[in-house]
Amino acid sequence: MISATLRHQRELNLGSAGRWDDFAGHRRRVTDLILGHRTGRPSSRLVVLGAGNCNDLELARLLAGFADVDLVDIDTEALAGAVRRQRLPDGARLRLHGGVDLTDPAPDRLERLSRGDVVVSTTVLTQLLDVALQAGATGPELLTVRDDHLRLITGLLAPRGVGMLVTDVVSSDTCPQLRTTGTGGLGPLLAEVVNGGNFFTGANPFAIERWLSTSPDLRLDRFGMAPPWRWDIGDRSYLVSALAFRKQAEWRTINAAG
Ligand SMILES: C[S@@+](CC[C@H](N)C(=O)[O-])C[C@H]1O[C@@H](n2cnc3c(N)ncnc32)[C@H](O)[C@@H]1O
Repeated sequence: MISATLRHQRELNLGSAGRWDDFAGHRRRVTDLILGHRTGRPSSRLVVLGAGNCNDLELARLLAGFADVDLVDIDTEALAGAVRRQRLPDGARLRLHGGVDLTDPAPDRLERLSRGDVVVSTTVLTQLLDVALQAGATGPELLTVRDDHLRLITGLLAPRGVGMLVTDVVSSDTCPQLRTTGTGGLGPLLAEVVNGGNFFTGANPFAIERWLSTSPDLRLDRFGMAPPWRWDIGDRSYLVSALAFRKQAEWRTINAAG
């Protein structure tokens, strides 16, 4: 039986499948950032969570940069349509993992995804938060949804692998000046919306960075936030942030004797 989450996401994905041109700037930015985190290992592996229509991914460039690319989404048809539209064969180097609910990943599906050199979540966090909000989740419960997603990303990383959370933070619905703010003004605008509490609950990148950097069990050792950018889609704009974090080289145990 088709779940309510899948039905909802499929409707959204069908609505945006044909909007390739609208995604051009956003797609270039996301793809460039991902490629910037390549490790240089010949067998490097990229895992993308929430790949869906892949309107935000230049798959040919990603395949040139990584030995293997794993695309994960709850919506199997969106993934299949994406590789068709970008005219790429789904094969050994490009693997599609449709039907995976990131809020309830079955261990065997996750096992096949583990140890990415780069693991990216592409604007799926706010979808997860929105579904939880519609189901009546309150502030602390939304933060649990956020933290579970961050744990999922970090859990999929190989040692020294880089995780990246790409998330929309606020839209022009509540921040109309976003529509007319130039590139140089987007950093200050991000600080302003966060300070004013005008952002999607759970999507504050500074709070996320704080949480990640103060959770030693996640074993992360480097953090970096890219300058935010604007993603215009139709008559709505989103302010988007990308936060990268690196998994430690190995598990550091504390020697009780010293
Ligand atoms: C805003 S879209 C991301 C944009 C997408 N990469 C594109 O270019 O079209 C969010 C994606 O997350 C997926 N998604 C939402 N909830 C999910 C869940 N619980 N598990 C897995 N994927 C989910 C949706 O199907 C959708 O493809």
